This record gives sequence, C-alpha cells and structure tokens, in this order.
Amino acid sequence: MGARDPLSDATTVSGVNGDSRMFDLSTRDFDRIRRIIFELAGIDLGASKRNMVYSRLSRRLRALGIDSFAHYLDQLEGDPQFTAQERQEFVNALTTNLTSFFREKHHFPVFSDFLMRGLAGRPARIWCAAASTGEEPYSIAMTAIEALGANSDARILATDIDTQVLACAGSGVYRDEAVQVCGPQRMRRFFLRGTGANAGMVRVRPEVARLVEFGQLNLLEPLWPLLTRFGLPLDAVFCRNVMIYFNRATQHAVMERFASVLRPGGLLFAGHSENFTDCREWFALRGKTVYERL
Ligand SMILES: C[S@@+](CC[C@H](N)C(=O)[O-])C[C@H]1O[C@@H](n2cnc3c(N)ncnc32)[C@H](O)[C@@H]1O
Repeated sequence: MGARDPLSDATTVSGVNGDSRMFDLSTRDFDRIRRIIFELAGIDLGASKRNMVYSRLSRRLRALGIDSFAHYLDQLEGDPQFTAQERQEFVNALTTNLTSFFREKHHFPVFSDFLMRGLAGRPARIWCAAASTGEEPYSIAMTAIEALGANSDARILATDIDTQVLACAGSGVYRDEAVQVCGPQRMRRFFLRGTGANAGMVRVRPEVARLVEFGQLNLLEPLWPLLTRFGLPLDAVFCRNVMIYFNRATQHAVMERFASVLRPGGLLFAGHSENFTDCREWFALRGKTVYERL
C-alpha cells in the first residue's frame, strides 16, 4: 500500500499475500475499473473497494500472463478478440455473490401465503433476478412445493449477470453444511445425499430443480428478452441484495421496469438494506422489504 505511481502520480496498491508479480493498481487504473464495471453491470464501486478489486482482478492478470493493470484494461477496452469473453470474466470477478438458503427468512411465509391465496388460473410465474449460486431460487421452489403441493406448477426464472455462479446454481450441488439451515425435514424431503466420493455433498431433488430455469440476464440490459420468453406478467419478483450495489438512479430505473413486468397485486421482495419507499407511484410497502405492485 502507499507506493507512488510515477505515471499517474497517485497512490497505488501493490500485491500482497505471496503475489510475487506485485502489480501496481494506480488510482487511474482503479478509476478506469470503476467506470467499466459501472457501464457493464451498474455496480457502483466505492473508493474503499480498492484492495478487493486488486485481489480479485490480479488473478485475471496472472491467469492471462499480463504484466500490468493498464495493459489488461487496454486489452479489455480495445482488442475485440479479447473483449467479449474477458468482459464476462471481469464482471464475474467483480460481482459479490454471497447468498444462502432461506436468507431473510421472514419473506418465505409471506410468499407462501401469497401463493396459497391463489393465482389467475395459471402457473405462478416467479422471477429471481439475482440468483447467484442458486440457494435463493431453490428456497423459492421448496416454498412453492410446500404451499401448492408436490405437483406445484409454479415456474421460477432464476437469472444473474455472473456466468460462473449460474453454472454452479444449475448443478444444484451443495456442501452439506450449506443446507443445514433448511432444517432436517426439508433436507430429507428436498435433497439427495451424496455417497462415496460425493459424501458431504447434497443435490437438490429433481422435483425441486424442475421448477427452476436458469439464464443469464443483466438487469441493466435495455430489453429483457428472457422474460418475454418466460411469460408476462409476473406474479412475484425476488430482487434481493443486488440493488445495494447500484446508485439511486439505476435503482429507480430498474424499479420502474419491475413495475412494468409485474401484475397489479404482484409482490417484489427486496433485500434487508434496500429501501424503495420513494417508488410509491408503482409500489406500496406491504411488510418488511416486501412491496406490492399497485
Ligand atoms: C450478494 S448476491 C445476492 C444473491 C441473492 N439474491 C441473495 O440475496 O442471497 C448479488 C448478486 O447480484 C448479481 N448481480 C450484480 N450485478 C448484476 C446485474 N447488473 N444484473 C444481474 N445480476 C447482477 C451478482 O452476480 C450476485 O450474484
């Protein structure tokens, strides 16, 4: 920390933790990274995230054999051969994917009651808009089965911008410890235990997995074609703990688009530190971080 970069005359962050190559992350390069991730994903990285950015992106530099952040960013922005795939890797590296089964558990009884109140004579359409490694959409699917029965025809579209977490989510395989939070009854009903080489792992049962379709979707995309193919209007949207990474203008724009895909009376579930009470032309607060489409 704290070396001077002769090029930008700004503070740089140098490699730590056994990183023998010791890249420098100048303020200029850091600001460039912040601009690119904002343009690609809407993520508004604060100035305090410099060490995090260093540790996540220096892995990309090492994997690619590139000797400086400036060269990496030049290629990322300039070289069309390099760009498409690497932009995705760049986004994957900078997203934060923390999640768990039945996270913010107060939402699930509300969702269950909502499903049991009945829908418009068709399968419920639920969108999980930042699905990460899958714990959230599978929790939604388990709740739907508990509310509507094993033959529940609820459909859940689970999307994320990050292709790496989606690959993990699609496999439906988790460490045993990660599913303990579901409780013994749900574990027995909804998971298969691995044996032999897979001991200590569990897999989501097919009856749960069949309700969930995964796909890549950037909330910032001007159109959401995946949603149109899935079917509109939606009955509920779970968009939890992603908007905290967006600035207010982006949040507002996404909320307006959620309003356009949810049916009146449909529910939007937000994360614990996300507050959209200023979106009252489209949504009314109906509980702890639960909003109803007006
Ligand atoms: C902290 S996780 C939240 C996961 C889950 N919703 C939960 O509450 O447990 C945030 C997720 O948002 C995704 N994300 C970030 N920017 C996004 C964007 N522009 N469009 C779609 N997903 C995005 C990340 O890849 C990450 O998996």
